Amino acid sequence: MSGTKLYEGKAKILFTTDDPHILLSRYKDDATAFNALKKGTIANKGEMNCAIASHIFQYLEAQGIATHFIKQVSPNEMLVAAVKILAIEVVVRNIAAGSICKRLGLEQGQALKEPLVEFFYKNDDLGDPLITEDHIAMLDLATPDQVAQLKKLALGINHHLQIFFDQCHLTLVDFKVEIGVDVNGNLLLADEISPDTCRLWDQDIADPSDRIMDKDRFRQDLGKIAEAYQEVTKRVLAVDISAHS
Ligand code: TMP
Ligand code: ASP
Repeated sequence: MSGTKLYEGKAKILFTTDDPHILLSRYKDDATAFNALKKGTIANKGEMNCAIASHIFQYLEAQGIATHFIKQVSPNEMLVAAVKILAIEVVVRNIAAGSICKRLGLEQGQALKEPLVEFFYKNDDLGDPLITEDHIAMLDLATPDQVAQLKKLALGINHHLQIFFDQCHLTLVDFKVEIGVDVNGNLLLADEISPDTCRLWDQDIADPSDRIMDKDRFRQDLGKIAEAYQEVTKRVLAVDISAHS
């Protein structure tokens, strides 16, 4: 099924297929943090994240969000549209956590007045710095029209994901998305949506460390990492997507 390896990232490998418009994305158990300074593996993460991302991509498609997802073809592999990935990581935050607390002195867990969109330059050598719309224009990472579309798309995804994760009794604190441009110039949600790329807090647990159900358990050495991913997988797959289409 898979052809030649096109690109190996920290969490996935992309392969060519017989169709130049379609790629195979293989999810790995590898986990990294802090620009790969911290490395490890999470047992079965590839299969869990592939299952979670497949389910969420299908849910978002049903809500009218265009994604690169075509179909899941094995427990840890999916076919995706071949797109040009913008060198911009788009982060949406509902609650202050992670880098925004360090950067702006906000308190962890503080609810934001409204969802906040941030852009980061996807560049490992520079450590993915925060960038403004003017930086994006200066570096030619996207056109001003694409930036406006990116923001709208990211906020739309946030809206639908919040509804989705609420059903899992998980609070969507923040998440990162990557966006691809297809041959027709359309923007598609690409990469993955998973506990690697979202902060998810268990709504039924009050303790600030115990409620963490995402890669922060790995980043902060909180233990019970695979258990948290298993629980998220169980709750995500239990959401009936057809009820939302
Ligand atoms: P941050 O608080 O570290 O900026 O992270 C914001 C969100 O983006 C959080 O949900 C984790 C996710 N994220 C990634 O998916 N990849 C990354 O490389 C980083 C730094 C964050
Ligand atoms: N994925 C990023 C890395 O390795 C960072 C992170 O998710 O914290 O380096």
